Amino acid sequence: MSHVLHRNISKPVPIVDSADGNYLIDENGKRYLDASGGAAVSCLGHTNDRVIQAIKDQLDKVSFAHTGVFSNTAAEELATYLIQNAPEGFGNGRAMFLGSGSEAMEAALKLARQYHLERGDKQRSKIIARDRSYHGNTLGALATGGHKQRQEPFAPLLIDVHHIPPCYAYRFKRDDETPEEFGIRMANTLEEEILKQGPETVAAFVAEPVSGASLGAEPAAPGYFKRIREICDQYGVLFIADEVMCGIGRTGRLFAMEWEGVTADIYTIAKGLGAGYQPIASVLASEKVIDAIQDGSGNLWNGHTYMSHAIACAGALAVLKVIEEDQLLGNVRTQGQKLESMLRAEFEDHPNIGDIRGRGLFWGLEVVKDKTTKEPFPAEANLSAKLKSDILENGMLSYPSNGCVDGIRGDHILLAPPYTVTDDELTIIVETVKNSLETILSKVSK
Ligand SMILES: Cc1ncc(COP(=O)(O)O)c(C=O)c1O
Repeated sequence: MSHVLHRNISKPVPIVDSADGNYLIDENGKRYLDASGGAAVSCLGHTNDRVIQAIKDQLDKVSFAHTGVFSNTAAEELATYLIQNAPEGFGNGRAMFLGSGSEAMEAALKLARQYHLERGDKQRSKIIARDRSYHGNTLGALATGGHKQRQEPFAPLLIDVHHIPPCYAYRFKRDDETPEEFGIRMANTLEEEILKQGPETVAAFVAEPVSGASLGAEPAAPGYFKRIREICDQYGVLFIADEVMCGIGRTGRLFAMEWEGVTADIYTIAKGLGAGYQPIASVLASEKVIDAIQDGSGNLWNGHTYMSHAIACAGALAVLKVIEEDQLLGNVRTQGQKLESMLRAEFEDHPNIGDIRGRGLFWGLEVVKDKTTKEPFPAEANLSAKLKSDILENGMLSYPSNGCVDGIRGDHILLAPPYTVTDDELTIIVETVKNSLETILSKVSK
């Protein structure tokens, strides 16, 4: 009997034993193609020599020294790399390093509040985010997300966050509007919410540039984030871009917001940053935010024991260098286009695939019961969980999830293969999804 408190204590999961490039191997020798990097984490596969060597080299030097006393070279170099490669407005910005995406989100929310306090704007404490977003599992991050099912048991513990609708074209775009008109209409819901709450009370707006876990790789409509930026500037609200899942190359650019032609005030990044070799996340604060602290208390009002951990930072720096040296952003764009064409060729006419969406190597398939009415399968059918197990059974890791329709109903399969994915692996990915869809749909449709 296992004494690990697993996610499901009655259903045993295989024990992973080793890895080979883009494959994980369990203790029985079964190989699994990692087509989702867990949850969009393992962007370089599992056995990258340069990252492993950088971690070993750092271990030989020093692992931990408390940030209340010391900085370390790996953290300094990593921060410089990220800030130098960050979007506009980060020239004298700074990065803080934490252990998980949720921790980074908590720190980003607190940083936004600190920014306003440092400027004497004490009334600004409200957070606005989007329905059907996912920002993490700690209490502040869970409250910020918009996934009802995950929030429900903890509702009495959650802070009051105000939610606007997501920019979700498949379900919200009207037939009589262009993508641009749709983008503006959805962005304007932020202005309505700010006015409703009282502009002088709103601290920050939080959004994923490409919605991941809850919406299944939904990029925003054209012009959406430009309008969001204008609204935030007009009302003095900070814009936090949660790139925990879609950042660090996943969309084919280092930052997903680069596709939008505007930037955020604070970024959170995590998964691709450590690529699974070490747990690490980061909050990047723009010059505007840092200036407010510099002109105010001069202190960061946040701290954790394991901040700026030297081994995690050394691993992340090596990940970024591999992405740069091997020109993997170009690979993400090329292989991403191939994956998109293959998914469209295979599933565009599939009677149960309502929508195919994504960017770079970040793709989602929304599964529906009725393609004409867009009706989802009932939540009780547990479709995404069944798909996940069947795909696993067939030797592949994917990230199906539920709740895209209303936080409870709606199923999608998220694919986030490594940036090094080959053409043959793309073929296996599409074939495996097709086969598992057939198997599971034939069971649930009975
Ligand atoms: C957009 C986004 N933000 C935050 C998180 C939380 O990250 P973590 O699971 O590392 O705490 C996730 C995790 O999936 C995420 O996708």
